[in-house]
Amino acid sequence: MKYRTIGSDPARRREVSVIALGAMLMGSRTDEKTSFAVLDRYVEAGGTFIDTSDNYAFWEDGGQGGQSEELLGRWRRSRGIGDEIVIATKLGARPLAAGTSYVDNPEGLSAKVIRESSERSRERLGVDRLDLLYAHIDDPTVPQRETVEAFAALVAEGTVGLLGVSNQAAWRVERARAIAAASELPGYEVLQYAHSHLRPRTDVPDDMFPDGSLGHAGPDLLTYLRAEPGLTMVAYSPLLKGAYVRPDRLPSDFDHPGTPPRLAALHDVARETGATVNQVVLAWQLGGSLPIVPLVGASSVAQLEESLAAADLELTPDQRSRLDAAH
Ligand SMILES: NC(=O)c1ccc[n+]([C@@H]2O[C@H](COP(=O)([O-])OP(=O)(O)OC[C@H]3O[C@@H](n4cnc5c(N)ncnc54)[C@H](OP(=O)(O)O)[C@@H]3O)[C@@H](O)[C@H]2O)c1
Repeated sequence: MKYRTIGSDPARRREVSVIALGAMLMGSRTDEKTSFAVLDRYVEAGGTFIDTSDNYAFWEDGGQGGQSEELLGRWRRSRGIGDEIVIATKLGARPLAAGTSYVDNPEGLSAKVIRESSERSRERLGVDRLDLLYAHIDDPTVPQRETVEAFAALVAEGTVGLLGVSNQAAWRVERARAIAAASELPGYEVLQYAHSHLRPRTDVPDDMFPDGSLGHAGPDLLTYLRAEPGLTMVAYSPLLKGAYVRPDRLPSDFDHPGTPPRLAALHDVARETGATVNQVVLAWQLGGSLPIVPLVGASSVAQLEESLAAADLELTPDQRSRLDAAH
């Protein structure tokens, strides 16, 4: 396994494995025995960066979520896991009532939610400090200063290490960071967005984003990442939920003329290297010029093994430039 640093403040930055593991479906769709086996294997292989949220996975049983954090809490206790593993969680997108969702009834990013939900996450995970806490979605109903100051207060108290943000427009991220910087407060340093080798159309409206998806790392976000050396991007759904091996799973926003040439380039490089297409996608993210940490999901140890092996796959400059250029 290889490692990289997230965060810039010498007192708070952390070293994490270059591949992060998502626990979104652990404790719900993925049973406890399988989840523990995946987590154990990840740690055995040197993995140190696990991702969850206070709302995972509310849609599986129509509740409010929390099963994933609770499972991670049980796993931590049973394995004696301490500070060596960085567990990131998120708040803001937990539904306020069972049977609702983050689209119509999210908890949001008020100071009260940030304080209370972070406390509940600490209880479920069984930790005194959340290593990395993200704003899961935006909340346009709360002044950004309130959100920024509430997150910063948790860092000052020592109940949160690093701050991150997910699924917000790049200009909102920049504005929040500017508010924090002007007041010498800690700001978001880890950006979590959907990112893979295939690129979706971002102009397709959905329930959450009527102007088109803000969850995908588009050009605005990527140029921001390139310009700000202190930032890291955690790339969620890098394997497109298994769609590289099961094309029927490819969402409709990937149905455009740019997709076939990129798939062809991936398959060419997979043939040349003897690696799988999934591994080529991850190796392309890992070895690129932007600081990207792929965040993989796995519902079996075999899937995890395939992803972990990508950390050792080196692409040649020619392979990388063909993958970059295909469109
Ligand atoms: N910030 C956000 O809004 C957000 C949104 C989504 C996810 N996330 C985070 O990102 C993590 C990963 O997301 P994701 O689950 O969408 O990631 P992903 O890595 O794109 O997809 C994982 C799924 O792909 C399939 N898969 C994985 N490895 C495979 C392999 N070697 N061969 C075939 N299929 C394979 C499995 O599906 P099957 O189980 O069906 O086989 C697995 O459950 C989540 O756990 C969560 O922590 C964050």
